Amino acid sequence: MEIYRFRHLTLVTLLFLRHACVDADKTNRQQKTYIVHMDKSLMPESSNDHLQWYDSSLKLVSDSASMLYTYNNVIHGYSARLTSEEARLLEEQPGILSVQEEVRYELHTTRSPEFLGLLKDAAVTESNTMSEVIIGVLDTGVWPESSSFDDRELGPVPSGWKGECEVGKTFYKSSCNRKLIGARSFSQGYEEAFGPIDETAESNSPRDDDGHGTHTATTAAGSAVVGASLFGYAAGTARGMARHARLAAYKVCWLGGCFSSDILAAMEKAIEDGVNILSLSLGGSVTDYFRDTVAIASFAATSRGILVSCSAGNGGPSPGSLSNVAPWITTVGAGTMDRQFPAYISLGNGKKFPGSSLYSGKPLSSSFVPLVFAGNVSNTSNGNVCTTGSLIPEKVKGKIVICDRGLNARAQKGLVVRDAGGIGMILANTESYGEELVADAHLIPTAAVGQATGGIIKKYVFTETNPTATVATGSTQLGVQPSPVIASFSSRGPNPITPDVLKPDLIAPGVNILAGWTGKVGPTGLQEDSRHVDFNIVSGTSMSCPHASGLAALIKAAHPEWSPAAIRSALMTTAYSTYKNGQGIQDLATGLPSTPFDYGAGHVDPISALDPGLVYDATIDNYIDFLCALNYSASMIKIITKQDYSCKDGKEYSVGDLNYPSFSVPIQTASGPGGGSSAPTVVKYTRTLTNVGNPATYKVTVSQETKAVKILVEPEVLIFSKPNEKKSFTVTFTTSSMPSGTTSFDYLKWMDGKHTVGSPIAFSWS
Ligand SMILES: *[C@@H]1O[C@H](CO)[C@@H](O)[C@H](O)[C@H]1NC(C)=O
Ligand SMILES: *[C@@H]1O[C@H](CO)[C@@H](O)[C@H](O)[C@H]1NC(C)=O
Ligand SMILES: *[C@@H]1O[C@H](CO)[C@@H](O)[C@H](O)[C@H]1NC(C)=O
Repeated sequence: MEIYRFRHLTLVTLLFLRHACVDADKTNRQQKTYIVHMDKSLMPESSNDHLQWYDSSLKLVSDSASMLYTYNNVIHGYSARLTSEEARLLEEQPGILSVQEEVRYELHTTRSPEFLGLLKDAAVTESNTMSEVIIGVLDTGVWPESSSFDDRELGPVPSGWKGECEVGKTFYKSSCNRKLIGARSFSQGYEEAFGPIDETAESNSPRDDDGHGTHTATTAAGSAVVGASLFGYAAGTARGMARHARLAAYKVCWLGGCFSSDILAAMEKAIEDGVNILSLSLGGSVTDYFRDTVAIASFAATSRGILVSCSAGNGGPSPGSLSNVAPWITTVGAGTMDRQFPAYISLGNGKKFPGSSLYSGKPLSSSFVPLVFAGNVSNTSNGNVCTTGSLIPEKVKGKIVICDRGLNARAQKGLVVRDAGGIGMILANTESYGEELVADAHLIPTAAVGQATGGIIKKYVFTETNPTATVATGSTQLGVQPSPVIASFSSRGPNPITPDVLKPDLIAPGVNILAGWTGKVGPTGLQEDSRHVDFNIVSGTSMSCPHASGLAALIKAAHPEWSPAAIRSALMTTAYSTYKNGQGIQDLATGLPSTPFDYGAGHVDPISALDPGLVYDATIDNYIDFLCALNYSASMIKIITKQDYSCKDGKEYSVGDLNYPSFSVPIQTASGPGGGSSAPTVVKYTRTLTNVGNPATYKVTVSQETKAVKILVEPEVLIFSKPNEKKSFTVTFTTSSMPSGTTSFDYLKWMDGKHTVGSPIAFSWS
């Protein structure tokens, strides 16, 4: 998987270096951070309070173990440094639900407001209540001097706000204002794993030395900045989705990653502080919900009415590559916009090809120079991707080099070419990236090309005796069609944990996004890049997530009483999955139409989402029923919910009955004892709609594209005579057997003549 954060290379290097230090430190070697989940109902009466009780539980197994954080909102429990033996002993003590080793998460942007139609209808999106909504962003911190944090248009900080502006060596009380109303940093888990923060390398404060956090925060809710651009590219007014909402930064990601004890602590505080929306552009490996820190903490946030929006991951286009799939989380994939940054390649044979680039330095001369393929001028096995030191200078000097995408950062490859004496680069997609063109602020003249173009150019190099080329960059192009298309990198379904819940939920812009940047590093994030920019253009589901977070804030402002599930439902049921001409949204990885496993309910359409007509609401109890349907034990459920809850004996819980705005129907291709195919399987899902509009009569339509499944909806008409009225319906799927691996899709729509409440249905046979 290619990493969309350009700093990852430095990051990996640091990891190695620092691991070496940790290894040398023999005394600490055995200790790791564990998250200890306590069963508060078992607190002995002799304990004065839960903190004392937590402390004594720890003392039972270790005199020396130190507690990092205690938690009360997100979980009941604490994090502590323990040896694996101590952790095992602790888990056996009464009152302990589980002791889980901490995991490391990784971080997974002005056209988007226009592309999303937000400028057409300013009145609806700039209501008075907008400035009451607070978005908390867990990321690498913020660069408070960014003009996107200008607060001139905003009134006093919302009265209920309890957050703080934590002061550090590089962060001041004055760093916060009426836009950036809070900033905190959480590093105890990180420092336990990596040693004390080296302030020459990164700020021990909420300050963003990376850029990622400033980019995500300003995408969600940055103020409007006129005349923003990156070296003139993407010039225009930069603004966040909810430009009058407030921002609070929670720095949890450091040079070495983002640690779960710190993430828990940040979400603990964010809940207390009073945020309304949480935006997390980070992810770890997917695991069961009771082991997944972000899922557990998000459950607590959701139960307090806070919508949690997370990036789907950059693991695409492999199937099942999603992260952050808990059904109470809004999982956001990435699509392109109608904007490109063109570059032009001319070959010695007269052929010309389009590419993409954000190079802004001295252009190459227009005369042709020799062109080589990296794989032919390197002495390492993966020399084709231009890793550090892999190119042979005598064979590269004065030439343009074709480097394949993958393994190291894209802009880094240009430096490798430059260090070997090369003067230009053609960055070619390999198969998994398809025709996706991600633009970068390269340090040498570069054009990125899709796999097909790359293939033609390579063939020319392999067959011509003296291949030559030249590369030039152009100016920003708008109105590119088709758009959106699914980004190749966007992680795909099916849902690897619960296939009965369709994920991702939706897609939002995540390719070549312009937003605010740090003053600490240049636009490529590379050490060698000494340029400073106020805005940068980057790509990833990290960028699409804060778009959804900001749009959720718009809906929250318009409908303050809506639950997180209702807000997500509004975003999902009004999303679109076809272009105006009726054709399905394309997938950049394949050039073919994409499916709900790629985009969930589709691409967000915020103006429609403000008036969805009906919503699929869900309460915390519905999510607990879902956990019962997963057959989770009482203690697993308690880790997530902090509540005593017994799933009712004899009650039939069904995962498919979770009141979700989309449908996913995994079908077992059951074979009888003789191997023969079995009779049709019947699966029944129940859903409840809540009227959030005027009295209306809705009729259902189902697309019935899937021949192997008969879909029956009962009733077919729902009459809502008052606001907030609820009506249920059932969908019966009668499925016949299909070869394992078959997938098929349909759509179910409730329409009243004004609203279309759409849900995708995904069938998969296994
Ligand atoms: C260059 O590399 C390609 C692909 O690996 C290979 O097919 C070709 O033979 C190589 N050409 C030379 C001159 O080594
Ligand atoms: C090629 O291989 C040799 C020997 O393994 C190594 O010393 C050298 O640094 C490599 N790279 C180049 C560019 O020659
Ligand atoms: C839960 O257990 C029931 C009864 O054993 C079984 O039918 C059902 O398939 C299980 N559900 C899941 C999600 O494992």
